Amino acid sequence: MFKKNILCIGAGYVGGPTMAVIAHHCPDYRVVVVDINHDRIQQWNSGNLPIYEPGLSEIVAEALGKNLFFSTDVDGHIDQADIIFVSVNTPTKTFGLGAGKAADLQYWEQTARQILKASSTGKIVVEKSTLPVKTAAAIGRILDSNDKGIHFEVVSNPEFLAEGSAIHDLEHPDRVLIGARPTESGQAAMLQVVDIYRHWIPEERIITSNVWSSELSKLVANAFLAQRVSSINTISALCEKTNADIEEVAKAVGMDSRIGPKFLKAGVGFGGSCFKKDILNLTYIAENYGLFEVARYWEQVVEINSYQQRRFVNLIITNMFNTIVGKRIAIFGFSFKADTGDVRESPAINVCQALLDEKAVLAIHDPKALEGAAQELGDYAGQFSLETDPYEAASGAHAVVIATDWNEFSTLDYKRIYDSMEKPAFIFDGRNLLDHQKLYEIGFSVHRIGRPSLSRI
Ligand code: UDX
Ligand code: UDX
Repeated sequence: MFKKNILCIGAGYVGGPTMAVIAHHCPDYRVVVVDINHDRIQQWNSGNLPIYEPGLSEIVAEALGKNLFFSTDVDGHIDQADIIFVSVNTPTKTFGLGAGKAADLQYWEQTARQILKASSTGKIVVEKSTLPVKTAAAIGRILDSNDKGIHFEVVSNPEFLAEGSAIHDLEHPDRVLIGARPTESGQAAMLQVVDIYRHWIPEERIITSNVWSSELSKLVANAFLAQRVSSINTISALCEKTNADIEEVAKAVGMDSRIGPKFLKAGVGFGGSCFKKDILNLTYIAENYGLFEVARYWEQVVEINSYQQRRFVNLIITNMFNTIVGKRIAIFGFSFKADTGDVRESPAINVCQALLDEKAVLAIHDPKALEGAAQELGDYAGQFSLETDPYEAASGAHAVVIATDWNEFSTLDYKRIYDSMEKPAFIFDGRNLLDHQKLYEIGFSVHRIGRPSLSRI
């Protein structure tokens, strides 16, 4: 007999790992994850998980069938639940009012209505997906517009996990944030959510706030992280014009304890499902309140990210004698960062599309993201190949482009790669990942971000 029933709607990158960790630490709770996507649920149940995340398959295997269950029966599980986490996707709107900026809340609203319809008792509904500020109020209104005489309490509990380190982040979060209404029932609901996390997280790391602060904090945390990446990337452009080295600058700046060393790695730009979406959301909210200067400020973070990707493409084309028509180029890495198969908003997409538009022939290698690459580049079928072996990808290529910071790229045999390539052989390291001096000594012309080129031409 379980003490409480937890339901999570949305078995994606957020819902799946979060619920697996909750189930792992809360054997007294029954955790069910539901999703409308049958294939996804089947994969969660099969042991061949739909997402790659280090450490995830082990904890899923341990809890699956004991207190962790995956199902497509959304309605059937709603009424059994005491607490319902909602982590359905909230993509940027592509149509109508706020297109290109505002969050598309249709799945959230549908889910809220579904919860309402299937419930015979009141429940705590937890916002896990990132949502615009004040969504909880809107969702609360929908949920409370019932004639069943039941009350729903909407609590905000934003997710701060980063892909690739999701399990570590869930096990050892810097903080868990729970936002609730200041009413008696709001505070009681908040305590129930706090109780879940108390199973493994020290009290001082569980912080509470009002709902709006919680919703806004998530957007702001991501905006600040993305802003650091764009800031360092602007300085990388300046470094390339001077004799400064971005790695040295980032180190010197990051050692100031007020600034700190994290998120100062210059590269081909940030990707992922959250940064751009959340900043656009923030700017949309600011504009809605007439705060145009605030909106323009944050918009620049996204603009600089595109600029950095364009700069990287230009670096490749100009150094390859201004033409890449028909040239084979090996792309190492397609996911938006290392240790994930996720390609959403990956800088590799824009870089590859630009190279394909210039009529290059791409051989793409990624340890986990080849399926995503095939989907993203579908329009260019016939102009690229997917390679499971990096040496195959590089064989006969004029250049190797590092687009993702997979650690294993730094341990490859670059002498072997060099020998198999067309000459002159180029490496464009969009993540400043490799040992450039060594590559130069092998014979490569090495071009990188924010550092002088090691060119043989
Ligand atoms: C991401 C972000 O990380 C999160 O912050 C954002 O707010 C939503 O998008 P993620 O878990 O990565 O969350 O999204 P995704 O992997 O797309 O998972 C969402 C899941 O919800 C999908 O499996 C989808 O099938 C499911 N879903 C969607 C439902 O079950 N019902 C719906 O009505 C809509
Ligand atoms: C982010 C937030 O970190 C997380 O808290 C939130 O819940 C979801 O959004 P995620 O997108 O998974 O997580 O990855 P993150 O590690 O933040 O990296 C985002 C992008 O920035 C990646 O493309 C990464 O390569 C890039 N990045 C990060 C840099 O280019 N330089 C850096 O120094 C750090």
